[in-house]
Amino acid sequence: MSAKGTMTGKGATGGKPSHAFLCRPECCSDLADELTDAGARVTGSTPTGIVTANLDAEPGPFVFERQRLSRPSFLSNCELQPVTSEQAAAILEPVLASDLLWTTHVYTSPTPRAPRLSARAEGIAAAMIRMARKQRRDIEKRFRPPQRLRREDGLVVQFCLDDDGLWTACTPLGDMACQVPGGIFRMKFDDLAPSRSYLKIEEAFVRMTCEPVERETAIDLGAAPGGWSYAFLKRDCRVTAVDHGPMKLDGEVTAHLTHLMANGITYQPDKPVDWLAADMLIPPGVALGLLRRWFDGNWMRRAVVNVKLPQQQCWPAIKPVLIFLRGIRGWNIHVRQLYHDRREVTVMAVRTGQEAL
Ligand SMILES: C[S@@+](CC[C@H](N)C(=O)[O-])C[C@H]1O[C@@H](n2cnc3c(N)ncnc32)[C@H](O)[C@@H]1O
Repeated sequence: MSAKGTMTGKGATGGKPSHAFLCRPECCSDLADELTDAGARVTGSTPTGIVTANLDAEPGPFVFERQRLSRPSFLSNCELQPVTSEQAAAILEPVLASDLLWTTHVYTSPTPRAPRLSARAEGIAAAMIRMARKQRRDIEKRFRPPQRLRREDGLVVQFCLDDDGLWTACTPLGDMACQVPGGIFRMKFDDLAPSRSYLKIEEAFVRMTCEPVERETAIDLGAAPGGWSYAFLKRDCRVTAVDHGPMKLDGEVTAHLTHLMANGITYQPDKPVDWLAADMLIPPGVALGLLRRWFDGNWMRRAVVNVKLPQQQCWPAIKPVLIFLRGIRGWNIHVRQLYHDRREVTVMAVRTGQEAL
């Protein structure tokens, strides 16, 4: 194992990172700021979206984190030529030493070379599993595909191939920051959706583990050209789209669409709605004001609100939003940079307890 990581150490040992976090490459410094604010000691970052740090606990998940490797190991590209049975035994040691079910999450860092690296990552993982199987044959029987491993104590061996080498870690499924391989929530586009933003709201529904249903009401602030509205309309919701710009939706799907050319920042609904959706190009401070009005007014029971990031100093801009949301009771609220987000993060909120409007 190279000096970049350790397989067995609890937390940081000898300057090796206790964690490697994945994020959008252009957001490494934002994640580093967030980690530092949480008391972590950031030890480095790569241009490919990996931030290493030492943390004494397992806090988070963090807003800018896509996935994390706890107590990671690192093998440089040189060390991987060739892959050896010793390396395989070290990486798969928790699987070899237990009788638990297990799976692998094989992915690449968010490097531009990802499409070329992914077949290599699969090849390395397969070679290591073949080697480990010689030591204990039943590991094959205990293997489950990622989507079929449900037991919280089941082990997940992550293989994350980066430009410089391979990061690995083994974690019980229940302790994973994100149970989707690499935090890659790749959504399928719908050709009837008028914008790629559609992918963001579909990802938000998956992450919230709840989606709109027939006859629910939604207010979509900053709706044009209509990707988010379309996601509600295709589920037979009643949608009020607020935007001075034109909606690019037509046909049957618009039967329950009302388009208001109004200011979404000051818009107030006549009565509470099931869903607030907001994706306006407004500064974080203005988005915070909007969130305050809607939460204080109790005008919705679910919300997906996209907050655009400034070009610089993102963390100081986002932090007041988090502080406000942390003070709200009776809601389940997550703020994350979605896989489909760009220079933005998304607030996902579900009111708990009393469900009826
Ligand atoms: C990123 S686009 C929204 C894309 C949309 N969610 C979709 O899925 O197609 C941002 C929209 O916010 C609108 N917008 C910006 N400020 C606004 C405001 N104060 N009131 C209403 N709409 C606003 C813009 O006109 C623009 O159409």
